[in-house]
Amino acid sequence: DPVRIAITAARLVDPVAGKVVDDPLVLIEGERITGVERGDSIPAGYEHIDLGSATLLPGLIDCHVHLTYESGDYYVKALRESFVDEAIMAPTHAQRTLQAGFTTVRNVGAGNFVDIALKRAIDAGRIDGPRILAAGHGIGATGGHADNGGMSPWLQFEGFNGVADGELEIRKKVREQVKHGAGVIKLIATAGVLSEEDSAGAPQYTQEEMDAAVDEARRWERRVAAHAHGTEGIKMAIRAGVASIDHGSFLDDEAIAMMKERGTVLVADIYNDDYILAEFGRLNYPQKIIDKERYVGRTQRESFRKAVRAGVKIAFGTDAGVFPHGWNGRQFAKMVEWGATPMQAIQTATVNAADLLGWSDDVGALAPGRYADLIAVDGDPLADVRELESVDFVMKGGRVVKPHAAD
Ligand code: ARG
Repeated sequence: DPVRIAITAARLVDPVAGKVVDDPLVLIEGERITGVERGDSIPAGYEHIDLGSATLLPGLIDCHVHLTYESGDYYVKALRESFVDEAIMAPTHAQRTLQAGFTTVRNVGAGNFVDIALKRAIDAGRIDGPRILAAGHGIGATGGHADNGGMSPWLQFEGFNGVADGELEIRKKVREQVKHGAGVIKLIATAGVLSEEDSAGAPQYTQEEMDAAVDEARRWERRVAAHAHGTEGIKMAIRAGVASIDHGSFLDDEAIAMMKERGTVLVADIYNDDYILAEFGRLNYPQKIIDKERYVGRTQRESFRKAVRAGVKIAFGTDAGVFPHGWNGRQFAKMVEWGATPMQAIQTATVNAADLLGWSDDVGALAPGRYADLIAVDGDPLADVRELESVDFVMKGGRVVKPHAAD
């Protein structure tokens, strides 16, 4: 018989309705929610978890993480470590993410399919971690953000990578990711910040190459997440039909109008800048990269505010791994600082994120039929969104993975 659990709390945030429900009673059978009611009459045969004065929310979703990676000294990372080091640390990063209340993530780029192995181990219940929609390698041009630029040409970087040029190579690279278990495709549409190209946003593929990537992904029923900072590359990626513009640093009115018209989702990692500017000098990042961050960081936040005002659909994504895994929740306060209401910020990390992943039957809301992925905070997250930086209770698939301190 499946385990039956009834959870009571003082309040429940319903991001689908954009409302708060008092005295919720959530009924769970096995891994899924069977009912969301009100009151405190626990049906017979149910184990009762009483969260007292806490507020319940759906488990949070981060649409832009790199669980296999965490920032460190620039040259040590590039020259002394490999994907084996990444595989060793990935379960710890996954565990920290889950403990922070993120029960689902979209992992948009990892070396040598370590992300897929991590997902498999989590799905099989061998280790704890969030549900993962994994991309495998990010696909990008030679010398671009997915390549290892700036190093001696004598150095050969072993193993597989996501470098592909021209329609045929790109299509093949998409197929390889799908073959090895990718559920989403990550496309490097433009230059990046934390890589050695001079530009922080020039297109790195032609329109034809971007079109080919999205067309091929669609054939395999995969959506595309586009890394895109610069205005022109953002528009090219939208035209190609990507599901999300990630980073989205230089949005102009036309780009915003295009996103609204096509339903392209913005995934803007607007906490990142604080951490990079505070720490990356110490981590020996080349000055050119720090300068690119200064150029991008502030404008990205202004673009975010414009997008919120215009009603662009936004999904929560942090680029965790650039900053320590488990700090994902710090981005909520940034989003509120730059124009979102606390409810909107919560919606980006629940309903909107679930839609973007194509997983809205399973996650993103507390409703019958969905996985019993839920979190609780002791304070009121709608009054102070910083409550989401220290989540007090986490359940994933009907199993308590972080007990409430008072329990
Ligand atoms: N992975 C991204 C890149 O290197 C991080 C950008 C971080 N900066 C920012 N302001 N969001 O391009």
